[in-house]
Amino acid sequence: MKFKTLTMLLLTFGALHAQQTTKELVDALTLDEKIALVIGTGMNIPGLPEGNGVPQAIVGSTNNEVAGAAGTSYGIFRLDIPVVVFADGPAGIRISPTREDIPDQTFYATAFPTASSLSSSWNIALAEEVGKAFGIEGRDYGVDFLLAPALNIQRNPLGGRNFEYYSEDPVLAGMITSGFVNGVQSQGLGATIKHFVANNSETNRTALNTVVSERALREIYLRGFKIALDNSNPWAIMSSYNKINGTYASENEELLYQLLREEWGYKGFVMTDWFAGKDPVAQMKAGNDLLMPGTDAQAKAIKEAVESGALDESILDRNVMAILNAYQKTFAFKGYEPTGVTDLEGHKAIARQAATEGMVLLKNENAVLPLQPEAKIALFGSSSYETIAGGTGSGDVNKAYSVSLLEGLKNAGLNLDTELTTTYEAYMKKERAKIPPKAMFFLKDELVPEKEWTLETLNALAAKNDMAIFTLGRTSGEFQDREETGDFDLTETELTLLKNIKQTFGSKGKPVIVVLNIGGVIETASWKGLADAILLTWQPGQEAGNAITDLLTGAVTPSGKLPITFPKTLASVSSSKNFPGSVLDPNTPKPENPLQGVPSEEVYEEGIYVGYRYYDSFDVPVSYPFGFGLSYTTFEYDDLDVTFDNTIKIAFSIKNTGEYTGKEVAQVYVEASQNGLEKPLKELKAFGKTKSLNPGETQTLTFELKLKDLASYDDTKHAWVLDTGSYTILVSTDAETPKLKAVIQIDQSVISETNALLSPQKPIDLLKK
Ligand code: BGC
Repeated sequence: MKFKTLTMLLLTFGALHAQQTTKELVDALTLDEKIALVIGTGMNIPGLPEGNGVPQAIVGSTNNEVAGAAGTSYGIFRLDIPVVVFADGPAGIRISPTREDIPDQTFYATAFPTASSLSSSWNIALAEEVGKAFGIEGRDYGVDFLLAPALNIQRNPLGGRNFEYYSEDPVLAGMITSGFVNGVQSQGLGATIKHFVANNSETNRTALNTVVSERALREIYLRGFKIALDNSNPWAIMSSYNKINGTYASENEELLYQLLREEWGYKGFVMTDWFAGKDPVAQMKAGNDLLMPGTDAQAKAIKEAVESGALDESILDRNVMAILNAYQKTFAFKGYEPTGVTDLEGHKAIARQAATEGMVLLKNENAVLPLQPEAKIALFGSSSYETIAGGTGSGDVNKAYSVSLLEGLKNAGLNLDTELTTTYEAYMKKERAKIPPKAMFFLKDELVPEKEWTLETLNALAAKNDMAIFTLGRTSGEFQDREETGDFDLTETELTLLKNIKQTFGSKGKPVIVVLNIGGVIETASWKGLADAILLTWQPGQEAGNAITDLLTGAVTPSGKLPITFPKTLASVSSSKNFPGSVLDPNTPKPENPLQGVPSEEVYEEGIYVGYRYYDSFDVPVSYPFGFGLSYTTFEYDDLDVTFDNTIKIAFSIKNTGEYTGKEVAQVYVEASQNGLEKPLKELKAFGKTKSLNPGETQTLTFELKLKDLASYDDTKHAWVLDTGSYTILVSTDAETPKLKAVIQIDQSVISETNALLSPQKPIDLLKK
């Protein structure tokens, strides 16, 4: 357990500690101790440099304070500086469920819905509530910093970690992040927002140069982080693996110092992603305070640089100061004894509710959903039987259980075709046994391939059931992006099965319901006509099956909306031309270790035209627009009131005009004046969700926009510019469906200069209207 050895020391030094300022603490440190504080320790991955590079004599205990955590800091016992523990991740506290020294106890954590699911709720208060539950589990299990949330932009549907990220839009991503961070930190657990910045693809991520315009950085990729910092106070930031316009994020002084500290005023500390970057001295200078998990070579290089004068010790002091300022707020510093027992029961309910709010009803022809309680269901699809709770890698959670859709439907007492479910269960068991265990924990899970069915059997099943539910599943994780064939697109077997289910059930007037148990966007345009209803559940965490059932039965009315557009084809995505970048020298041999990338470059030629900003501005049809989601009930928008002074105040009412109790997500977009800079047709500026409205009930939502929220970034002036002209405020139910409209006039342009930072080193052939 943590602190077994520390407790005595805390009692001895506690008083001194409380009176010491961070400055005094830093002054009391030797050079070796400072170095011990700027490099951490953690997981040893075969093939990557080993950690534990700091002489044990000067520090206390090192790693394995909490089994399975991604890393720790070094403690310095001489000065009563305890070990601080870092654990992933965005869907739950990622630690080992067992500990060698406590064999009769388990330490399972709750697997909450993945980030994309949480953002689909468009519910900041819910993100906060989920964050609180993370905070409690972190506290109880001895974790000091959560390595989450992750808010990179879902730039391309194939991004391997999109499930860990929130949205294609920075306002949604930034606001959900803020809610979540506020929840986590309200319990005393530090949040680490990651990966700063533009880590939007996984292929070759450790050797990838992201070439991106200043404007796209400011308006899209940095924007969510800025919003998160303005609305919450994350104690830490994790820099990303990739280079930004030629310099590794973790070695990038313009990013980490001039922008983050000087321009934005950030007071927390920055850590690397695991083993990121190449030059520890450059990382120190850049303001990447902590190197994780830390290696012998890094400790040595930093010491040599200080001794030779190549690194001023004052830089080390600055970094140590930032680290200790944050550490002083941790459980470890406060001497908190983790109980090792947490409220798994209570959090189960939060996970289930959050999962239901994050599900998006994409189609519901003839109101086939909610289903009739007595309907006899034919349940198809491997993922109905092994429902996918979350993705893989550091975004995975060691959970005690996960409820499949089969179990969820059974728990609700629904009427299943048991002959079919028995056949499926036997099939799943047999096929699962054939799949070898993964070579490394973070690699992608292999799913049981879809079972093939003859038309004859399907006909017989259609005759004796009232409906078919067919779940399509997808998984992904870090180090790898997804593929188009058989992943973004349906596999041949899936498509054939869907067509045959439609033919057999449809011809008998029986509906086909498709459940999308996926981590990222898939192609839907070509086959959606075969489904009567489509429910997007994402990867909904350990309560998956129960939560999906809540929506199918109508126990919960769907209220989720898409945080990312579902395009018609992959080719119609603006970044598809250059995603995930190209290898610089095609003759470079593949490194033996799959975790080490090959030098590559990804040029963001689409600039600011990411997601709906592109489809909208270039009139590209989509399958389902950003912000889209149906409900079982209906809503009416009315009473728009916009006042404009120094701020724009917007108020409107939403009435539940249908027959079910439900919540509605309202989105405020602004169509900016097209004077001056070229701009996207419209952009999301604010959003809100009603409470649960009973039929007939009305609620007024209010928003306040600042004028600077309407400005665009001018690369040539290195300034935010608010052009004159008319700005249309659209209150919408999704990106394509405005309900209310108001126009304001800006008579005087406003220019707000920034530092010229992070400019591309070579011209980018930017997409223009
Ligand atoms: C991931 C981070 C994660 C870290 C520690 C890295 O591979 O990119 O998101 O926090 O590992 O597990």
